[in-house]
Amino acid sequence: MQERTGTIFETLFEEEVHQGLTDFPKHLSSKYFYDARGDKLFQDIMNLPEYYLTNSEFEILDNYKDKIAQWFSSGKGKFSLIELGAGDGKKTKILLKHLVSENVSFTYKPIDISQNALDQLEKSLHEELPDLHIEPRQGTYFETLADIHSDNGARKVILFLGSNIGNLLHPQAVDFLKSIQDLMNGDDLFFVGFDQKKNPQTVLDAYNDKTGITEAFNKNILARINRELKADFDLEKFLHWEVYDPETGTAKSYLVSKEQQSVCIEKLDLKVDFRPWETIHTEISQKYDDEVVQWLAKKAGLQIVTQFSDQGNLYKDYLFKKELS
Ligand code: AVJ
Repeated sequence: MQERTGTIFETLFEEEVHQGLTDFPKHLSSKYFYDARGDKLFQDIMNLPEYYLTNSEFEILDNYKDKIAQWFSSGKGKFSLIELGAGDGKKTKILLKHLVSENVSFTYKPIDISQNALDQLEKSLHEELPDLHIEPRQGTYFETLADIHSDNGARKVILFLGSNIGNLLHPQAVDFLKSIQDLMNGDDLFFVGFDQKKNPQTVLDAYNDKTGITEAFNKNILARINRELKADFDLEKFLHWEVYDPETGTAKSYLVSKEQQSVCIEKLDLKVDFRPWETIHTEISQKYDDEVVQWLAKKAGLQIVTQFSDQGNLYKDYLFKKELS
């Protein structure tokens, strides 16, 4: 039995944790992975040999930076380079450096859910690219859309790298792409990374590394609930489990309770019971192919201008513009 005595939630985090852990089956949103510890663990993931996504996109940006910069600066005047989920900006810096060295005039507007990640990014950019104009903004993608909208009319190039879109189910992805499309003018561009379908083992390995960093990353959501909501999750009593369905291209992450147990979340006034082998679904990491990207784009009123792939065809970046109606 799960009980609660009419607590008013102070944050969306509290509300969604309560909702997800009293639902059946249980779930938690992957956006809550990213506190300071989670940011660090994700950086470690990006350095894993198994996590091919980062190297593939790095390779694409490095190989095609000239072409990409030409596309970005192909309109009139100064533009805003808006990045959704900028993180540590490791990949974006390839483009930023190239654009700055070509004397392209633009303002870089990184958006991230983690203030910690933005602070680090801003600091490192001041050191590495002192001439770059940067305007960071903390928030979720949806919260910051309004900001993008009120942008003073400068041409927009929107970046959404790292296959971050893969955290969204297709209907959510369409809604999201649509809401971006809605803010775009005819000469704006939208540059999006989509991890591709591939050997299923390669995908599984990327989310199930031998060193256990992805496991720690997944479990960090429980550690965060412990820290911020005064809970007593024993991380040892949960298993990190990854599945990949090559038919749908969906990778799913779970935390599986190894035994019957109860967890107290003091701040939510909540006791959560787990049956042996009961699951908490924590993340999806969707994989795509050209047909699916084409379909998503069409549904969202976007048109593929061009695309870039790595040598191994593991990953692609697509450049979209608003479909002319
Ligand atoms: C940041 C959402 C792109 O799904 O591949 C990495 C997060 N999760 N390892 C992904 C993640 C587990 C990552 N994204």
